[in-house]
Amino acid sequence: MKPAPKTYAVKSFGCQMNVYDGDRMAELMAAQGLTQAEPGEADLVVLNTCHIREKATEKVYSDIGRLRKDAAKQGRAPMIAVAGCVAQAEGAEIVRRAKVDVVVGPQAYHNLPQLVARAASGEAALDTDMPIDMKFGHLPARRRVPPSAFLTVQEGCDKFCTYCVVPYTRGAEVSRGWSQIVDEAKALVDAGAREITLLGQNVNAWEESGKGLHDLIAELDKIEGLARIRYTTSHPNDMTQGLIDAHGRIEKLMPFLHLPVQAGSDRILKAMNRSHSRDSYLRLLERIRAVRPDIALSGDFIVGFPGETEADFAETLSLVDAVGYAQAYSFKYSPRPGTPAATMGDQVAEDVMDDRLQRLQAALNRDQTAFNAATVGRTCQVLLERKGKLPGQLIGKSPWLQSVHLISDAAIGDLVEVKLAEAGANSMAGVLAQAEA
Ligand code: SAH
Ligand code: SF4
Ligand code: F3S
Repeated sequence: MKPAPKTYAVKSFGCQMNVYDGDRMAELMAAQGLTQAEPGEADLVVLNTCHIREKATEKVYSDIGRLRKDAAKQGRAPMIAVAGCVAQAEGAEIVRRAKVDVVVGPQAYHNLPQLVARAASGEAALDTDMPIDMKFGHLPARRRVPPSAFLTVQEGCDKFCTYCVVPYTRGAEVSRGWSQIVDEAKALVDAGAREITLLGQNVNAWEESGKGLHDLIAELDKIEGLARIRYTTSHPNDMTQGLIDAHGRIEKLMPFLHLPVQAGSDRILKAMNRSHSRDSYLRLLERIRAVRPDIALSGDFIVGFPGETEADFAETLSLVDAVGYAQAYSFKYSPRPGTPAATMGDQVAEDVMDDRLQRLQAALNRDQTAFNAATVGRTCQVLLERKGKLPGQLIGKSPWLQSVHLISDAAIGDLVEVKLAEAGANSMAGVLAQAEA
């Protein structure tokens, strides 16, 4: 038995949807009267975990060990709750292996207060249900939010790429209701958001009675005080003409698209069950660039998928050359228990994966630097999100999602007109357009 906690901390790992969920769990705890504290000092620590790659999962166990050890030195034994995708995938195994107090899956965290109460009374507290009735209706209202806020509109995945755990940890594709989303967007703007990023594992699969994500974006476009709309992550096959057209039509929709391709070889794409080809992906990008020529493209890549040859990998490099990504993420293939690819023959050796990752990242860095360099001299709006390290320095985002730092006495949350003056590999230096004139 542990006393009911008075303070809490939530630590989120993994994707932006986990960040959103983590924020909502924090709001839940605050609504219960708990006070926020540092993870090293809180009575209740919620680890909101990610299962996407092996390293991410192992990190959870080492984090739990470290938390315990540090707390023991201060004579404390905090309550530990494991939430997120590792909770869903491992369930009771985490309780056995790490003796945590609460295990709660990503679709059940609205029950966190009851689970914590149960743990405090010494009972096992595990909930990895995926109820039809979504959690969102059971969460407290939004209060204080940053200038750029997340809003989950869709969850789960039906695509079953052969390497991926998400369809198992997050369940089937479900769209949140239109009016609930619009209400939350308005609440976010009232609470200080100027930009909203719509989230979903397959966000562009959002639908409600024939309406698609572009209709939802058009509705949010009408919200006064909301300046920018983004969405992520999209699947190439759900990129409808309506959504493409929205990029040419809706000014608040930012010129940035994260559209993972994973690999450049059709043979590997087929083995991954991606259900798009190299060519269909490239043609899709052409259609998007036709309506929005300045769009910044982003992607995800996996190197060393089982059976990937040097010739297959060369096709990934040539696809990168053909696209010219503004930014991208790349990973070594990590076999995940229960996924079809984990038991495929021809697993690629670690040193081969290391070498390919290095070459891919060199190409992606080159393109990111080139993209940034090409924007030097442009004047654009920057949404200021936080303070920088230097006195008077503020950091924000350009429409193309570049980090821009500048010296200004404007406030966090302001949209300022900025001339991009200098390009770095990962950020831009800007000057206020008025100050320059
Ligand atoms: N729903 C999104 C994001 C999925 S997870 C999508 O479909 O793109 C984010 C990224 O992690 C994926 O795009 C993929 O590049 C990577 N990833 C997923 N499973 C992986 C695995 N088993 N090994 C290595 N990378 C993986
Ligand atoms: Fe995973 Fe593929 Fe679904 Fe993305 S589309 S979440 S990579 S199964
Ligand atoms: Fe990780 Fe789950 Fe997101 S596995 S990437 S936290 S959906």
